[in-house]
Order: sequence, then C-alpha cells, then structure tokens
Amino acid sequence: MKITEHIYLVGSGSRWGFGLTNEIDCNVFLIDTGDGCVLIDAGTGLEPEKMDAVIASHGFSMKDIKALFLTHYHGDHACGASRIQKASGCRIYAPAQEADAIRDGDETATSVALAKGGLYPLDFVYPKSDNVVGVEDAQTIAIGNVSLTCYLCPGHSLQDMVIFGEIDGRKCLFSGDFVFAHGQVLLQPLYDVTLKPYADAMRRIAGLPIEAVFPGHGVFCLENGIQYVQKALEKFDVGLLPQQLYYFT
Ligand SMILES: [Fe+2]
Repeated sequence: MKITEHIYLVGSGSRWGFGLTNEIDCNVFLIDTGDGCVLIDAGTGLEPEKMDAVIASHGFSMKDIKALFLTHYHGDHACGASRIQKASGCRIYAPAQEADAIRDGDETATSVALAKGGLYPLDFVYPKSDNVVGVEDAQTIAIGNVSLTCYLCPGHSLQDMVIFGEIDGRKCLFSGDFVFAHGQVLLQPLYDVTLKPYADAMRRIAGLPIEAVFPGHGVFCLENGIQYVQKALEKFDVGLLPQQLYYFT
C-alpha cells in the first residue's frame, strides 16, 4: 500500500492491521530513500511470500533493502528480520540493549517463550539474525536522502525505540508499539515493562515536531500525529495510564 511518494506499508496482519500479510504481523513500513530502501520492523517472518509479493507489487525486491530498523525485540516485529537480512544482506539496527537477544534468537529475553500457544503458534521459533547493530539513544543514521534519528524509549519493552525523520516534506514518527492511534499504548505483564520510564519517554517524544505517526499496529496518521503522543502524555502526567490498545483487550 503506497502511503506517500516514498513511504509504503508492506506488512500488516489482519488481526490488528490492514490484512496484507501474516495475520499477526505488525505494520512494516518501507521507505524508498532514492538509494535503496529502508524497512521499519520486520513482522513475524511467517508466510514470507506474502510480504515479498507486496514489496514486488511496488517495483522493489529484497535486494533493494539496505537497512532494517527494529523498534523492539518482540516476535511480531522482529522475527522476520533473519530471513530479510539473509535475502537482502542488509544491516539490522535495533535498540542497543535488545540487540543481543535479536542476534541470539533469545525466546526468554524477548518473551516469545511466554506467548507460545497464545499470541504465537506453539511451534513458533525466534530465528537468530546476523549483522545486528545496537543503536544508541539519539543516534542518526542516513541512508540515501533520508536521515533517521532513533530515540530509545523504555517502557513497552526493555529499550523500545522510535524512529524520527523528515520524508516527503513531512516530519514522521515511526512509533512501533510506543504509541498508537488516539494515544493508546500496549502494556503487558512482562518482566521488562516499566511505567515511569515510559512516562518520561512520552514527555520527551512530545517535544518533537511530529506531523505523521506510523504505529506498529492499527492506523497511521499523516497530519497532527502529535495529538497521539500528547493524549498519552496527558494521562501519564496526572499519574494515570493511557488507554490500552483496544485490539489487545
Ligand atoms: Fe511489542
């Protein structure tokens, strides 16, 4: 699905998204940088032919992918990384403290083990990945004519990450599972979920001049996306929790 001149949605499951690829895939965005493509998140890696077909329908192939940014290590965002890296030779950028778990396919650290038979099939496997680079806070990575700045936002996961950059004249936030439409968040009873750091990160991200927001599940928004961040922050700022992502309740 072409969203703007250079941004495409190439993965998204039917359960919490647009029904392009495997049913539990997160939203996977492709950015055409003018010198190769960037992917934001990778999906589950299940039914990979579906994502390949969507990418091909827009005239791209795995060989065009120069970089894959993983917002965090959860399986519905990161387990497709291994096969994308093998097919493209791309570099995988991930939050520094989550990079080892992605590289090693650590099903305990990523909480995939806990979710087997629930969110994931019982025989689901977290594949090991090569060429995983740990990203530090506020690190900017330029690919083609696109510069993307990564902000580490612990809360939803150990060191959850959002990615900010100007594309097609729009200041875009790729928010992963940090914030969704209408200021919803996704809080799960996992060992690495932290609420005060989450609130602090929301306050910091609210200071960015955000126009478009592209979340990891559900709808995206091309203008006034900052309202999502502000709405979540309004709750955190008075000691309450933002609304839980309704798909997951
Ligand atoms: Fe997640």
